[in-house]
Order: sequence, then structure tokens, then C-alpha cells
Amino acid sequence: MKDQNHKLSAATIGLHWLIAVAMIGMLTFGLILEDMPKGEAKSALIWWHKGIGVAVLAFALWRFGWRLVEGFPSALSRAPAWQERVAGATHWLLLLGTLFMPISGMMMSLGKNRPIDVLGLFTIPAIGEQPVLDQVGQVIHGLGGKLLIAAIILHVVGALKHQLVDKDGTLARMTGRLVASDTHRA
Ligand code: HEM
Ligand code: HEM
Repeated sequence: MKDQNHKLSAATIGLHWLIAVAMIGMLTFGLILEDMPKGEAKSALIWWHKGIGVAVLAFALWRFGWRLVEGFPSALSRAPAWQERVAGATHWLLLLGTLFMPISGMMMSLGKNRPIDVLGLFTIPAIGEQPVLDQVGQVIHGLGGKLLIAAIILHVVGALKHQLVDKDGTLARMTGRLVASDTHRA
């Protein structure tokens, strides 16, 4: 099923919540890792962080393709033009963040000449020491992560505004519910 104004597709809803939970979890996971001293416990957790991160990338690519085909869901109520621009830019940043976080993580590992064992299922082989790849990856992973956290906070504030102020069914539609489509913009 495709996205419609009054009802979103199962792909849009399923991928949104799966990736939302995974991204919030992985950002928290990363921040915990950042503060841990080097050692066996940290290495074991990094193994999970990397494997889950690569798995998230697979779903994020599926979702990215789906958004390119379907476009973003249309708004259910009017807001000032600047708010619509902020919401649109935030959606793009969130969508791209689900790609650039795992990809930059892989750049860091591969750049250090480390193979990536993906949850014991398969291994992405090492490609030799690539210091530039590692450094660019580190900058994107570190700063990108902070930027993404800010974008998620803004996004949740926007969702709450739709729910509590506009009362336009935006959140209900993202939980799969049918909403009145007579209020939407074409
Ligand atoms: C508790 C957290 C979250 C809530 C309550 C929430 C809520 C929503 C709602 C209501 C929409 C529909 C907006 C509309 O129809 O205009 C939406 C869309 C979207 N959200 Fe979230 N969201 C959350 C977390 C996230 C996270 C963590 C990400 C990504 C890192 C994310 C990425 C997106 C994107 C890209 C869209 C556009 C439609 C799509 O691609 O599915 N959201 N969100
Ligand atoms: C969903 C995707 C991911 C998210 C949201 C995420 C998030 C984060 C965050 C916020 C940090 C802490 C900031 C930093 O130290 O740079 C971090 C650290 C790290 N991430 Fe990720 N990450 C993801 C995927 C990956 C992947 C796929 C890999 C490697 C294959 C990876 C490898 C690492 C490594 C090695 C660290 C550094 C731990 C340390 O030594 O402090 N991440 N991640």
C-alpha cells in the first residue's frame, strides 16, 4: 500500500518506529561508549554497537528508497511558512542521519584497518589503513551524532505541537490510524 493523506502505508509506519527506536538507542549507546575506559567490557559493547549499526543501515537504505519513491507525508494542517521549512529540513536531516551515522562508523573502523563482524552473520573485510577515511568518519560520527540529537529533540517538540496545539491527527496517522483527510493540504 502507498502513503495516502488519510492513512500512511505499513512500510512508512513500520520503518519509522523501528528506525526511531534503533537510532535513539544507538545514540544513547554511543554516548555511553564515549565515556567508557578502554578494556574488554568496552570492546564487547563496541562489537554490538557496530553490528546493530550496520543492521540499522540496511533498514535505513530501504526507508530512504521508500521516501524517494513516495515523498514525505503531506501536512495535515497549515503552519507558518518558516515552521513548515524547519519541519521539512528536519525530516531531511533525520533521514540522512540514519545513513551518515552508520556509514561514518564504518569509515572509522575500516579506516583503522579493522574488519566489521556483523553480529556473527557476516564480516565486512578490512581494507588497509586509511587515516583520512578514519578522521573524516570520526568528525561526522561525533559532530553528526550531536546534531542528530538536537534534530530529534526538535522533531519530538514538533510532534507534540501537532498533538497538543494543532490537534490535527499527525501523530495518530504515524501510529497507523485513519485520520480525517478533509483538513489536509493538497
Ligand atoms: C519519540 C520519538 C518520535 C516521535 C514521537 C516521532 C513522530 C513523528 C511523526 C508524528 C511524524 C509524521 C510527521 C508528518 O506527518 O508530517 C514523523 C515523521 C518522521 N520522523 Fe519521527 N518521531 C520520533 C522519532 C524519530 C527519529 C528518532 C527519527 C530519525 C532519526 C525520525 C525520523 C522521521 C522522519 C524522517 C519522518 C518523515 C516521514 C518518514 O520518513 O517516516 N523520527 N515522526
Ligand atoms: C545507527 C547508527 C549509529 C549511531 C546512531 C551511532 C552513534 C554513536 C555515537 C553517538 C557515538 C559517540 C560519539 C563518538 O565517540 O563518536 C558513537 C561511537 C562509536 N561508534 Fe557509533 N553509531 C552508529 C553506528 C556505528 C557503526 C556502524 C560503527 C562501526 C561499524 C560504529 C562505531 C563506533 C565506534 C568505534 C565508536 C567509538 C567508541 C569510542 O571509542 O569511544 N558506530 N556512535
